[in-house]
Amino acid sequence: MANDQQSVLIVNGPNLNMLGLREPTIYGTDTLADLEAACADRGADLGLAIDFRQSNLEGEIVGWIQEARQVQDGIIINAAAYSHTSIAILDALQAAELPVIEVHLSNIYKRDQFRHHSYISQAAHGVICGLGAHGYVLALDAMAGLLENGGP
Ligand code: DQA
Repeated sequence: MANDQQSVLIVNGPNLNMLGLREPTIYGTDTLADLEAACADRGADLGLAIDFRQSNLEGEIVGWIQEARQVQDGIIINAAAYSHTSIAILDALQAAELPVIEVHLSNIYKRDQFRHHSYISQAAHGVICGLGAHGYVLALDAMAGLLENGGP
């Protein structure tokens, strides 16, 4: 039944709107629209509705996560630079009480020391990093498994 379809919020943080142009040796040449299309395709295969968003504003991301509590079944998040700074996004994810998977395009552990810590990880069931755009598709596969097994 259509109204039984589960839904996943995919949140992208600051500067991810610049994908394709931004440091392609680190982030690849896929644009954010390419990522969204790949997620929509995999979501359709998995029977999941996808709500794919990007914001450069911390408060807007917090607001989306708060809304998700009522209307989504899971959250996939690449909080970008906010991963390393935002207790507000961590608190929102913990309050959402939904399964969370954290994604990074790059391998944050091969990069600057300040990228090695993510506040988001504390709220995440799992973390995928370093696999580029494919990491988002893998996160959807993992989310489908979590939702099928009744969440984390
Ligand atoms: C990123 C890694 C972060 O350290 C960085 O600030 C980003 C993108 C990634 O996807 O690899 O903006 O989250």
